Amino acid sequence: MSARPTIAVLNGPNLDLLGTRDPRLYGTATLADIEKSCRRTADDLGFDIDFRQTNHEGVLIDSIHDLRESAAGFVVNAAAYTHTSVALHDALAIVAAPIVEVHLTNIHAREEFRHRSFVAPVAKAVIAGCGPDGYAFAIRHLAALALDTEQKDRSR
Ligand code: DQA
Repeated sequence: MSARPTIAVLNGPNLDLLGTRDPRLYGTATLADIEKSCRRTADDLGFDIDFRQTNHEGVLIDSIHDLRESAAGFVVNAAAYTHTSVALHDALAIVAAPIVEVHLTNIHAREEFRHRSFVAPVAKAVIAGCGPDGYAFAIRHLAALALDTEQKDRSR
């Protein structure tokens, strides 16, 4: 079995309720639908996915610690913790692999308290407002970055 690089996809609180949670805002795709599409996108690019969701800040941070040395990249939709969690910022700051922050909605077009992100300063890129497609865009970008790093390493 060849070990394929893994992209971690971490989801924060209330995203487990996608599909029924305010569909006019968040759409009708469930988190299981998003996971399926992430796996399909990653598989086409030769990557595995470690897909997680939690409603607990400490569990989210434990996942980052868990994956910080093994994941080739991180897709992070920390949901409401994006706007509140210094602990999340600090955990992500320790990660060497690139991070893409994703939001289903355009957080900058919503309430002012959503305009601030503790993830953005430690992210390589931020994707907001593309719905579930944002996850696929993030995976494509991380895969391109990983391949670029691999090529640079090989030419050294
Ligand atoms: C969200 C935006 C956050 O402001 C909100 O708390 C969420 C979902 C998004 O994906 O649009 O729960 O991260």
